[in-house]
Amino acid sequence: MKAGLFFVVFLLFPSWSSAQRPNIVFIVADDLGWNDVGFRNPDMKTPNIDKLATEGIIFENAYVQPLCSPSRTAFMSGMYPFHAGTQHRTVFPDQAVCVPLNYTFLPQQLKALGYATHMIGKWHLGFCKWECTPTYRGFDSYFGFYNAHEDYFNHTVGPYLDYRDNTLPARNYSGQYSAITFAQRAVDIINRHDVSQPLFMYLPYQNVHAPIQVPKTYEDMYLNVINEGRRIFSGMVSALDEAVGNVTKALKDRGLFNNTLILFTADNGGPIEWYANNWPLRGGKHTIWEGGTRGTSFIYGAGLKKTKTTYDGMIHAVDWKPTIVSAAGGTPETTIDGMSHWDSIRYGLPSSRTEFIYNIDDFEFPDEGHAGIRVGDYKLILGYPGGPDGWHRPMNRTEDDKYEQRVYLKGDLPVQLFNIREDPTEHNDLAQQMPDMVAKLRARFEDYKKTMVPANFPDPDPASDPRKFGDVWSPGWC
Ligand SMILES: *[C@@H]1O[C@H](CO)[C@@H](O)[C@H](O)[C@H]1NC(C)=O
Ligand SMILES: *[C@@H]1O[C@H](CO)[C@@H](O)[C@H](O)[C@H]1NC(C)=O
Ligand SMILES: *[C@@H]1O[C@H](CO)[C@@H](O)[C@H](O)[C@H]1NC(C)=O
Ligand SMILES: *[C@@H]1O[C@H](CO)[C@@H](O)[C@H](O)[C@H]1NC(C)=O
Ligand SMILES: *[C@@H]1O[C@H](CO)[C@@H](O)[C@H](O)[C@H]1NC(C)=O
Ligand SMILES: *[C@@H]1O[C@H](CO)[C@@H](O)[C@H](O)[C@H]1NC(C)=O
Repeated sequence: MKAGLFFVVFLLFPSWSSAQRPNIVFIVADDLGWNDVGFRNPDMKTPNIDKLATEGIIFENAYVQPLCSPSRTAFMSGMYPFHAGTQHRTVFPDQAVCVPLNYTFLPQQLKALGYATHMIGKWHLGFCKWECTPTYRGFDSYFGFYNAHEDYFNHTVGPYLDYRDNTLPARNYSGQYSAITFAQRAVDIINRHDVSQPLFMYLPYQNVHAPIQVPKTYEDMYLNVINEGRRIFSGMVSALDEAVGNVTKALKDRGLFNNTLILFTADNGGPIEWYANNWPLRGGKHTIWEGGTRGTSFIYGAGLKKTKTTYDGMIHAVDWKPTIVSAAGGTPETTIDGMSHWDSIRYGLPSSRTEFIYNIDDFEFPDEGHAGIRVGDYKLILGYPGGPDGWHRPMNRTEDDKYEQRVYLKGDLPVQLFNIREDPTEHNDLAQQMPDMVAKLRARFEDYKKTMVPANFPDPDPASDPRKFGDVWSPGWC
């Protein structure tokens, strides 16, 4: 009887019981490299990010997927991409694909806990029908773009607009740099927010994905960098940092900051060919080397008990959804790949994750198929790890950069084994020396592979043609 009464009260007054839940800001930096932040690389000017990171908890072993759509699948659904069919490359603008609609997304769970949910930035999880898009998948409001990348000023993919204010095309932002518009929108939401309700904001910025573009004032912060691409890229990182600073300032001004938890992560390693840097890690975006999969990541704020420290425990992108749900006072699902690390992180305890899959993509080389697994300290790579390979310092000469590229031939499936704890930069392949360990990891990998869903990677669909939708990339064709 009492339980029934409580249930009724809870349904009628959800905010009454959720007033103390923390506000949560989940920031994703697109294509940011391991060595592209000031707290690791003193040449980078990121004072706002550095302050949050060094006063919070910096993650040394927080893994992501090697590419955008797969990592974002994991963030939103808590599922490995190889279980959702998004393990191969990314969602292209003209593909009739989205993350399966039967997965509950993170904002849907937070809404059930009483949160206001807002998203600003890049989606990249499919948009061929409205049901696939942010305001139909748990967000109260959305401002941003659906595709992988676009012009930072005119917001077009090819000649067609991809910029939305909720469901409507946002045509009047031409000439305005996206980081500034996104931060301003976040500030507006914070200022209008009804503080009796907990706030969730998902802020997947466009920065610092290609194309390499930034207003000149940010580029001019790096006149000591001779390589033009790296100079502009560095400015893009500092524009992102300023956007983070503007959002934290708005939270402070509104009195929300001390009850806010901020999670920051890159979506994949930095693309070396687009001037990002992952030194001293090997490889970058597009690879399952550590440089492509170890995300720059930290957490700051409400509920953390052991701060100003680093956390070495193993975390995978699939874990952020259940971890955030726990931090919000909810109960994570038990049917997903991810697990909550909330208590481990906040008290500095060992991680309960002991293994994960880097990816399982059965497309054949050279079509970017990757397969790799981590069990304990060991990592097994089966076949093509992706390219470019090698160890690269930040570019700072006009003639940079010569890639070392090992040549893999079709049908050639080299197996490589590394002890990541002792050799995080992957210099010493142990496969020949440790055949038993190779066999053990391969067997574990085969267990996972049995559960793989085939990649959903269809041919381009002419029905996607934006000319049918007023020259705007739009839902309504699948
Ligand atoms: C979603 O549907 C797919 C098949 O379309 C199935 O493989 C998967 O198990 C389902 N997932 C959930 C969470 O229901
Ligand atoms: C937007 O800018 C890009 C260059 O980045 C250019 O190729 C494209 O034509 C422009 N689109 C419009 C609609 O002006
Ligand atoms: C664009 O138009 C919308 C809708 O009228 C308006 O709310 C918004 O402030 C405008 N933004 C700019 C930058 O003009
Ligand atoms: C941050 O806020 C300042 C002051 O409002 C503004 O001039 C600047 O453009 C903002 N920067 C970003 C990246 O949002
Ligand atoms: C780039 O090289 C120049 C000339 O060697 C040097 O003065 C400058 O400090 C370097 N900058 C960075 C960021 O490494
Ligand atoms: C947070 O800030 C508010 C408003 O400034 C203050 O009333 C409250 O005591 C602070 N809470 C904590 C835990 O510091």
